[in-house]
Amino acid sequence: MKKFYIETFGCQMNAHDSEKVVGTLLEKGYQQVDEVENAELVLYNTCSIRDKAEQKVFYRLQQFKREAGKGKIFGVLGCVAQQEGERIFERAPHVSLVAGSASYTKLPEMLIQLEAGNRRVTGLSLDTTDTFDTPFTSRDNPHRAYITIIEGCDKSCAYCVVPFTRGPERSRTSESVLREARSLAESGYSEVQLLGQNVNSYRDPSPASWDFARLLDETGKIDGLKRVRFTTSHPRDFGKSIVDAIDENEALCNHVHLPVQSGSDSVLERMQRSYSRAEYMRRIEWMKKARRDIAITTDIIVGFPGETDAEFNETLRLINEVEYESMFIFKYSKRPNTPALQYEDQIPEEEKTRRFNLLQEQQRSIQLRRNAGYVGKREQVHVEGYNRATNQWIGRTSQHKTLNFTAADLPAPDSDKTLTGKYLDILVTRAGPNSLAGESVFE
Ligand code: 5AD
Ligand code: SF4
Repeated sequence: MKKFYIETFGCQMNAHDSEKVVGTLLEKGYQQVDEVENAELVLYNTCSIRDKAEQKVFYRLQQFKREAGKGKIFGVLGCVAQQEGERIFERAPHVSLVAGSASYTKLPEMLIQLEAGNRRVTGLSLDTTDTFDTPFTSRDNPHRAYITIIEGCDKSCAYCVVPFTRGPERSRTSESVLREARSLAESGYSEVQLLGQNVNSYRDPSPASWDFARLLDETGKIDGLKRVRFTTSHPRDFGKSIVDAIDENEALCNHVHLPVQSGSDSVLERMQRSYSRAEYMRRIEWMKKARRDIAITTDIIVGFPGETDAEFNETLRLINEVEYESMFIFKYSKRPNTPALQYEDQIPEEEKTRRFNLLQEQQRSIQLRRNAGYVGKREQVHVEGYNRATNQWIGRTSQHKTLNFTAADLPAPDSDKTLTGKYLDILVTRAGPNSLAGESVFE
């Protein structure tokens, strides 16, 4: 039996692609191994969203070659593969397969070529209307599953490689999404996460022609599914109907990740984000006025070319106004092919770091304050596992907050199987900037 090893970098879309790649390989008779030394086929599913992520891939490739490269076949998948294409063969001559995500539907054919001894196999076409929709997905987590609803991205944010690495938007039919969700529920999954680079521009290609809010709502009605999440949203396409759906359907998690990137209109314009600060804030208003307490999280880029102090201050002002539950902050990183590459007036690294730290500090105090407001409340968690270092169970609230808890009346866990996957009510007793802590209150 042929053995393979796979390592995955990047976002949830990439993590889920790897689950499909693994499923396809298992179906073709391969066996997955955890040690690269024991594999004949070594795969890296790569990310190129920022320069650092990309460099990490090449570093890993070299390191593996030195450590355990003899006689092995190497493949580079995902976003770096799509972006760098055949240049990877020059930079890392021990690589035999280079394939971007839009070509994974051809994976079985590419495997046949590799097995036949071809040492330069590529899958780099973005010219596809297909989605990588496979019945052979091998999921990592037995309780929480990803479901792709849309692949690719049609936006053209000036900093972003994704339209180049994942190709144009392709939505799956609602029927195929619901079939997958039902079959997951039947096999014991209670939580699903609908995935896409921009889920809000989902448009059912079948005559039903559902929009995203409808698909979300229908998924939330499936028997057995207790939680439905989605990521990621683009503010321009984020409609009020999504907030209404969350309000009306308890199975839909009260968490929305809505990347703002900047609080300054002029920066948003240069980023080609296609919304203004005021338009973004209108969406925040919808959520703040909702019946349910919707947790809002975001992504911010600091040091976009030409970002002045005044523009950066607009971002500081915005995060004070919104009071996000949490955020990811990124220093702007130049990416190949992107419009912003041509922009002059790059911000020095030290200045990016200064802004990053300022934002982080301000957000930390917002989170401390917000989290303190949960102390004394009961929250339902989906249990994810047990942390032996702290002797606490790890739970996740519907708002996607980490809530670590103890349960004195339960037998000490020999394995993390006892509570993992269960839903429990927890009394929040303490709060930090990044997580909550509490005690189980179930009888
Ligand atoms: N530089 C820095 N951050 C970036 N992001 C995307 N492209 C870049 C880039 N070139 C960030 C955005 C996006 C998140 C996934 O990564 O904030 O929402
Ligand atoms: Fe990285 Fe973006 Fe590709 Fe995800 S889509 S792996 S974040 S470059």
